[in-house]
Amino acid sequence: MFRAACRASIGLWLMLAPACAADAPARSAAEVMDILMWNREPVGGPFALTDQTGQIRTDSDFRGRLMLVYFGFTYCPDVCPTDLQAIALTLDKLGRDADRVQPLFITIDPERDTSARLAEYVPLFHPRLVGLTGSAEAIRKVADAYKVYYAKVPFKDAGDYTVDHTAYIYLMDRDGNYLGFFPPGTSADRMVEIIRPRLAEPAQ
Ligand code: NI
Repeated sequence: MFRAACRASIGLWLMLAPACAADAPARSAAEVMDILMWNREPVGGPFALTDQTGQIRTDSDFRGRLMLVYFGFTYCPDVCPTDLQAIALTLDKLGRDADRVQPLFITIDPERDTSARLAEYVPLFHPRLVGLTGSAEAIRKVADAYKVYYAKVPFKDAGDYTVDHTAYIYLMDRDGNYLGFFPPGTSADRMVEIIRPRLAEPAQ
């Protein structure tokens, strides 16, 4: 269903951008956030995307590890870099246990975020961070599955744009099932506190 293009005003939860979305997603940011907050629909699911080395990666490649899944874009001025730094710090604080956690950065701007672009970007944060891109359709599908809102927002000048998006860090269990999300601004210490007990649980 097509909805009005203007994004909902939800303050800190979204990157601030001044215009209306050009290609509006099926559901508004507010609807998507409501679904997540109240656990109204399943979160996550299978994907097949291309990593920063050009290899196809699927969700099943990461079985046996917890997944920290983050959706964003490399041209994001502040929210994405801040959250990716928090993810990197979380891995550092986990020490050797971090081997059993897989951080994933899935772009919601596949037009600009090619594998080559991701190869320049993800190592800035952490050597184990895997960047994933794909076709516009594949990205929309995985974002919908994770209840991620994103919409392109054109700038006034020539052809440039930013992308409005919800910024949650999803925690998935060793079998790829959804455990919960960390809201934007969650500290690395808090993430470690939640992740450590999960790592201590015996594998199913
Ligand atoms: Ni961002």
